[in-house]
Amino acid sequence: MDQLAGKVAVVTGSASGLGRGMAERFAQEGMTVVIADNRLSEAELVAERIIHSGGSAVPIEVDVTNRDSLEAMADRVDRDLGGASVLVNNAGVVSYSPVLTSEEKGWRWIVDVNLFGVVYGLQTFLPRMLDSGRECHVLNVASLAGVIGGAGTTDNRLHLGVRKPQFGAMYGYLATKHAVVAISETLAGDLRDTPIGVSVLCPAHHEHTGIWDNSARYRPESFGGPMTKDEIEATGGNLEEKSASSRVAFQREPSECAARVVRAIREGHFYIFTHPETRPAVESRLRQILKAFDDAQDFSG
Ligand SMILES: NC(=O)c1ccc[n+]([C@@H]2O[C@H](COP(=O)([O-])OP(=O)(O)OC[C@H]3O[C@@H](n4cnc5c(N)ncnc54)[C@H](O)[C@@H]3O)[C@@H](O)[C@H]2O)c1
Repeated sequence: MDQLAGKVAVVTGSASGLGRGMAERFAQEGMTVVIADNRLSEAELVAERIIHSGGSAVPIEVDVTNRDSLEAMADRVDRDLGGASVLVNNAGVVSYSPVLTSEEKGWRWIVDVNLFGVVYGLQTFLPRMLDSGRECHVLNVASLAGVIGGAGTTDNRLHLGVRKPQFGAMYGYLATKHAVVAISETLAGDLRDTPIGVSVLCPAHHEHTGIWDNSARYRPESFGGPMTKDEIEATGGNLEEKSASSRVAFQREPSECAARVVRAIREGHFYIFTHPETRPAVESRLRQILKAFDDAQDFSG
């Protein structure tokens, strides 16, 4: 999709972080951007800033965990702006989601936002895009966490030890991000002969984004309320340090991620990675999977 100027981009979760970076960049490209976020006052500030810089932006309050809320936004985008040509399913959270202790609400929340937020976004906008006959693009935001994982070995052999289990609690994040990659891969195949392009963004850590802080502070009461200090630490966050990602190497700016996204939409790239330095982590997982095929081959019954 080469021509962006004059078209409409809807970016969920664009009151902050990577979504905001993408919205700002789309506006610079001459698009009208919908700053779609459940924090309306923050969305309004981002839209004001874009308009002040000469761009075109409309803030809309939306909760991606609620299909009716997304439908209402899509109706408004159709009515007032002539329909969306780009949809970015970006809104996402981290949540306390361990498997070594019983926990339910944190799991439900992360599945609702990170997985159903994408599903509902697609269900709401894709039929409209297909009906319009226009060239459109859908970008789902997963994570590097959506393509890595595994048992941390390269040889498909488990290494049992005597240590106590570590109390990691990012299972929900990894699970939902793998799901977003899987949905995107399936969708790209399904839409191959249509004018709708599909990409999946798999970023690693970026500065000036707020996923740990925002998730810790704004987790709704129905999903357990603001996270406790212990829960934050178990998910890798630390409010005193502003965000966990500030401790990680290879930092990049949301504006750079946004520039990669624009190039990918223009040139029709499917997978979008932001940190070439993280390639060994992906290679390691793939090597382990291939080794498992060697084991399957060796099997003689
Ligand atoms: N920040 C990173 O380095 C990084 C790395 C890998 C992947 N990601 C992914 O990028 C996306 C954005 O992350 P970020 O760090 O920019 O986060 P962020 O917290 O800075 O921005 C996310 C926005 O989503 C909004 N949001 C949360 N729940 C919502 C809901 N139910 N409905 C509507 N809006 C909602 C928040 O209000 C917030 O403004 C996420 O999907 C995240 O998993 C981020």
